[in-house]
Amino acid sequence: MILLLGATGYIGEAFAKELQQRQKEFLPLSRAQMDYTRFDLLLEFLRTKKPAFVVNAAGYTGKPNVDACELDKAGTLVGNTLLPQTIAHACAVAGIPWGHVSSGCIFSGAKVFENGKTRTEKDFTKPELRALVENNPAVIRGFTETDTPNFSFRDQPCSFYSGTKALGEEAMAGLGQSYVWRLRIPFDEFDNKRNYLSKVQRYPKVYDNVNSISHRADYVKACLDTWELRAPFGIYNVTNPGFVTTRHVVETLEKILKPKHKFEYWSSDEEFYKVAAKTPRSNCVMDVSKLLAAGVKIRGVEEALLDSLNNWKAE
Ligand SMILES: NC(=O)c1ccc[n+]([C@@H]2O[C@H](COP(=O)([O-])OP(=O)(O)OC[C@H]3O[C@@H](n4cnc5c(N)ncnc54)[C@H](OP(=O)(O)O)[C@@H]3O)[C@@H](O)[C@H]2O)c1
Repeated sequence: MILLLGATGYIGEAFAKELQQRQKEFLPLSRAQMDYTRFDLLLEFLRTKKPAFVVNAAGYTGKPNVDACELDKAGTLVGNTLLPQTIAHACAVAGIPWGHVSSGCIFSGAKVFENGKTRTEKDFTKPELRALVENNPAVIRGFTETDTPNFSFRDQPCSFYSGTKALGEEAMAGLGQSYVWRLRIPFDEFDNKRNYLSKVQRYPKVYDNVNSISHRADYVKACLDTWELRAPFGIYNVTNPGFVTTRHVVETLEKILKPKHKFEYWSSDEEFYKVAAKTPRSNCVMDVSKLLAAGVKIRGVEEALLDSLNNWKAE
């Protein structure tokens, strides 16, 4: 049996759907049923029910966006740092392997490979970097699992949300047997206020940037595959290979969904942060070579984007 924590959430419900499809026996557990954030209760539960594997899809995401985390720092810290640490200790004591939903938002920018050398660029709003994205995308490389997070409490600025996610990874490191599955900007064909493709359509103005993104069903499939394939424990970036600019997403959306309204963009980062956002946003490219080398199959970002828009199900 697989124990699923946070099954009521946006990502948790996708895990539940995929586990059902795979006809896996699983137990969705909510804090309302049993407070799994308490070490003593969780350990007792693990010892009694003896799951073969635990999925942690629970955590604190600010709603409607990360700015909300700045207003509830204690809740954010509890959900994103203390919870994975508690689960890591309980699973280690009970001898149960587990997987944790982390985030790629602990990075900013990308790596650039030019003239035989790789350098890190943190800021996609730099015109030279943006020019490379448009004109020479092959030189843009993603952050790998061995790179140290550069959008964290240890490498500021960062949002409080990102800081707690990076610290969550640190808090569980070296304890027992676990996967860290880094998710980035979930999207799919189901219109939902949590879906990136829905958000883009509803923003009064669009923030143009560069990101790797994760199709929600592709993400949970890939995560479960790491366990089913018995890939080595550790960190895995789990995004659809490649990256997109928001402008490209909007243009594709305009072609396929033909929305009535015309999209407008924030004229600059300065305007975006003055009017629409409070805390810094992470925009980054992730490298998924490790996931692919482990034998996990996941389609490229363009295919997943086109598939989602061609099969769009409005709310
Ligand atoms: N959605 C995104 O854009 C995104 C992107 C990257 C990473 N992530 C990560 O994915 C995980 C799941 O996110 P989600 O979008 O599915 O969030 P969600 O819809 O808010 O669901 C999270 C679930 O976590 C449980 N939970 C346990 N402790 C909590 C706490 N202290 N505060 C709030 N909820 C708590 C709740 O379930 P019960 O109370 O029923 O147990 C809740 O339903 C999080 O770790 C998040 O950081 C999300």
